[in-house]
Amino acid sequence: MAKLAKKRNEDPNKYLIGIGQEKMAVIPPTQDAVTLAANAADTILTEEDKEKIDLVLVATESGVDNSKSSAAYVSELLGLKHNIRTLELKQACYAATAGIQLAKGHISLNPHKKALVIGTDIARYGLKTPGEPTQGGGAVAMVISADPAVLALEDASSYYAKDIMDFWRPLSQTEAMVDGKYSANVYLEFFEQVFHDFQEQTGLTLRDFTALLFHLPYTKQGLKALRLAVENIDPTQATKYFNEFEASRKYNKLTGNLYTGSLYLSLLSLLENSDNLQAGDRLGLFSYGSGAQGEFFSGILQENYRQHLTNKTTSLLNKRQEVSVAEYEKLFNSVLTNEKNRTLDTTSDPATYVLTGIKDFKRQYQKK
Ligand code: CAA
Repeated sequence: MAKLAKKRNEDPNKYLIGIGQEKMAVIPPTQDAVTLAANAADTILTEEDKEKIDLVLVATESGVDNSKSSAAYVSELLGLKHNIRTLELKQACYAATAGIQLAKGHISLNPHKKALVIGTDIARYGLKTPGEPTQGGGAVAMVISADPAVLALEDASSYYAKDIMDFWRPLSQTEAMVDGKYSANVYLEFFEQVFHDFQEQTGLTLRDFTALLFHLPYTKQGLKALRLAVENIDPTQATKYFNEFEASRKYNKLTGNLYTGSLYLSLLSLLENSDNLQAGDRLGLFSYGSGAQGEFFSGILQENYRQHLTNKTTSLLNKRQEVSVAEYEKLFNSVLTNEKNRTLDTTSDPATYVLTGIKDFKRQYQKK
C-alpha cells in the first residue's frame, strides 16, 4: 500500500493509518468468485461434511452470471452430492450473513444435515479512484451445523434495512460506484441502530461481549464503529476492546476488502491472533451491506474451539507474490468480462481451482 500511495502521490500514512491497510490482495484473471469460493471451501470440508451438506449458499456481489448461481458451479467443483439446494445470495457485503441466518433456520429444521455458506468477492473500484486503496478480494467458507465446533450462534439478532445509494454496481459495470464519505457515515448509523436495538431486545450490554467484530471495508472503518460503541465506558475497560480489535483486523489489513467475506475473515483473524479468548466468551458481530442492510448478532465460543482452527492463514497470506504497481494495473485490466472466447494461462496460478477461460460465453473451470 505504501508503494501504491507513492505512485498515486499520496502520503503512505494516508493508506497505512488513515485507511488502515498495509497490503491489498490482487486477484489474477485466472480466479473469479467461483474459484475463490471453491478454493476456500476445499481447505475445510471433511468427507463427513460432504456427506451431510444439503444446502450450499454462495454470497457474492461479484457474480459471474446474471442467471446461473455461483453455488451451482462451486458444488460441482467440490464434488458435492446432487440431492442438495444451491443458491447465490446478493445484498452487497451483507449477503454471507443472510446465508448464515438462512442456514441456521434450515439446520434447526434438519439437525442431521449441514450447510455450506461462502462469502466470495473481488472488490474493484477502479485505478486512481479514491476507492482504490480499499480494494481487495478473497473468500471465506463456513460450515453451519447443529453441533458447532467454533462458535454457537445465539437466537437474538437485530436487523435494519433502507433503500439508499451509498455504493452500487450497475449491471454493465465491472467497477463499483460509491459515494465514499456518505457510505462511511451510513455504515456507522446502521451500526448504532442495530447495536442499540440488540441491547434493548436482549438486555445485554457491551460488558457481556468479549469482543466486537465488524465488516471491514478498510480497517479504519471498523475502528470508527468501535469508538462509538465504547464512548460511554471507562477508558481502561475500553482498552480490552481495542486490543481484541487489533487481533481482529490483522488479516484484513493484509487483504483489503473481501466484501461478503470481510466480517468472517475478521472473525478468523480474532480467533487465530487473540491470546485472551476463552470458551464461553460472547462475540458480537456487525454485518453491513451497502444499499443498505445492517445486522448485529452474537455467538458463544465453544469448548476446544482452538483445536478446530487450522492456523494456516498467515502462511497462506505469506505465500502470495508481490506485484509491482504496473503489474497490478495490468492484472486489473485483464479481468475476464463479456467476451465470447478467451483462453487464460493458468501456469503461474498455484490454486487448486482455476478459471482456464471462456468458450461460447461459458466459463471454463479446472481442478488442478
Ligand atoms: N496520515 C494519516 N492519516 C491520514 C493522512 C496521513 N498522511 N492523510 C489522510 N489521512 C486520513 C484522513 O484524515 C481520513 O481519516 P478519517 O476517515 O478518520 O477522517 C482518512 O485518512 C481517509 O482520508 P480521506 O477521507 O481524505 O480519503 P478519501 O476521500 O480519498 O477516500 C474513502 C476515503 C471515502 C474511504 C474511499 O477510499 C472510498 O470511497 N472507499 C470505498 C467506500 C467504502 O469502503 N465505504 C465504507 C462504508 S460502505 C461499506 O462498508 C460497504 C463496502 O464494503 C463497500
